[in-house]
Amino acid sequence: MNATAKKLVAGLMALTMGASLAACGTDVAPAGNAPTQESNNEAPADNKGGDKTVGIAMPTKSLERWNRDGEYLKQQFEDAGYKVELKYSDNKTDQQNNDIQGMIADGVSLLLIAAIDGSTLSQTLDDAKAQNIPVIAYDRLIMNTDAVSYYVSFDNYTVGKLQGEFVKKQLDLDNADGPFNIEFTAGDPADNNAGFFFNGAYDALKFYIDSGKLVIPSGKKTFEQVATPSWSTDTAFENMQNTLASFYAKGEILDVALCSNDSTALGVAKAITTDYAGGNTPIVTGQDGDIANLRNIVDGIQTMTVYKNVNDEAAATLAVAKSILSGETPDEGLVSSLGADATYDVESYNNGVKVVPSYLLVPYVITKNDLQKLVDTGLYKWDSDNKYLESTAETT
Ligand code: BGC
Repeated sequence: MNATAKKLVAGLMALTMGASLAACGTDVAPAGNAPTQESNNEAPADNKGGDKTVGIAMPTKSLERWNRDGEYLKQQFEDAGYKVELKYSDNKTDQQNNDIQGMIADGVSLLLIAAIDGSTLSQTLDDAKAQNIPVIAYDRLIMNTDAVSYYVSFDNYTVGKLQGEFVKKQLDLDNADGPFNIEFTAGDPADNNAGFFFNGAYDALKFYIDSGKLVIPSGKKTFEQVATPSWSTDTAFENMQNTLASFYAKGEILDVALCSNDSTALGVAKAITTDYAGGNTPIVTGQDGDIANLRNIVDGIQTMTVYKNVNDEAAATLAVAKSILSGETPDEGLVSSLGADATYDVESYNNGVKVVPSYLLVPYVITKNDLQKLVDTGLYKWDSDNKYLESTAETT
């Protein structure tokens, strides 16, 4: 994150809808009680929803995390007394525009949008603005429009930085002789987050790349060269297969496959499992805590994931939405009631038209040794053999 970004760190704070949410910090286990997973038919005492409907636009059901986001958001907003119109748009930008247009026509009071392509919603959001419907960009920034009021996400640069710093520590880059070989796999260029993740990781390792201790045999060192449209597992698999065939076919050692998230890590790990001849087990990074990736972590095929508690993200979003719908103007004062560690940032996220005030939650690293931390969030449970994790959510 921008060094000058305004930061306020909230402690373990007030909770939304009776759900006791975990406070967490970098490398620190979430503490506290598990969030309530059952839906609560009785509206809580602070029910302010009234007749208001909130429109929630999620990108796709094909990437695991958005199923969780949709479920947690719906549950939390309904528990707070709001009606919810939730749409998934199959990763198609036209469909997402249509879905949001439909919500505007239905007279929603507020829109929460995780954009498929952050730059394709300007016209639709002009319509929302014309009807005084506030818009919160959820997780991904919406670009080129002044119709977006707030952004709720995680500190995206820190996600990448945690991946890079993990590699630095695992390889002991300050002391080991090296050189070590690394390949990058980044995310969807249409997703504003993807560049933040890549830059955070690259910047953490740049010193060692520049000094030659880390080598990129493929030569692919820019975001554009390693981006993965739609965050596709299949594309990440094919790209890694090609890289292995072109640069590692003679038994050259791959030490690190730095993947920006879990859907891409899944493809990369599969390519390594099937096509890599080097004999060692490369470090593979990820992000999200998807169930398939947590299995790979148990099986030693993926090394870590950067975890973002999306139940906390939903709670923070509810707090911002409630404040807006009560006629307030949320600012840094709201941080203390977000229910999780967060920063208020009014500098880092410029969408091309304005700097969007942002509430950014704190991600942290999970390895095979700390899977219990995920169980402690209440969002995961051990399977019957106590070996792999399963989701406690209904739809994942
Ligand atoms: C999210 C990540 C996710 C990726 C693909 C990004 O915008 O922040 O958590 O892995 O999209 O779904």
